[in-house]
Amino acid sequence: MKILVINGPNLNMLGTRNPAVYGGDTLAEIEDRIRNKAADLGVDVDFFQSNHEGALVDYLQGPARESAGIVMNAGALTHYGLSLRDALADSQIPAIEVHLSNIHAREEFRRRSVLSSVVVGQIAGLGWRGYLYALDYLVTHIREEEAGA
Ligand code: DQA
Repeated sequence: MKILVINGPNLNMLGTRNPAVYGGDTLAEIEDRIRNKAADLGVDVDFFQSNHEGALVDYLQGPARESAGIVMNAGALTHYGLSLRDALADSQIPAIEVHLSNIHAREEFRRRSVLSSVVVGQIAGLGWRGYLYALDYLVTHIREEEAGA
């Protein structure tokens, strides 16, 4: 089983970007922890990050088709990225939406997610661990679906 972890705009800047809100870890450090968690769970994991909505759409239409599930932090595209939302919905791949920060406790514009209606669920405000919890849940979810539970 292959799971994709997709990050959107500005998440390549983790580590230096507003650490009080997003934490001090780089994306590479977080990806290492996700890789370890994936090994524990017995699944393969691939990573993709882009600052461009079209590149994320292309990825969902192409390489992502091979995967069983997606963990996605779409960054600010979460709040207005309708072509990303459509591509995720069209892929029909089960996805969990992750946010490092609690988007519901910040500016008004961050409270709305255009993705939330096309994902299995959302994790927000748990920092980098949110990616691990999302992966853990997604693998359980997919295995249950496969078993017809
Ligand atoms: C974010 C929250 C978004 O509002 C913001 O634009 C990001 C990161 C988060 O992980 O908390 O880029 O998705």
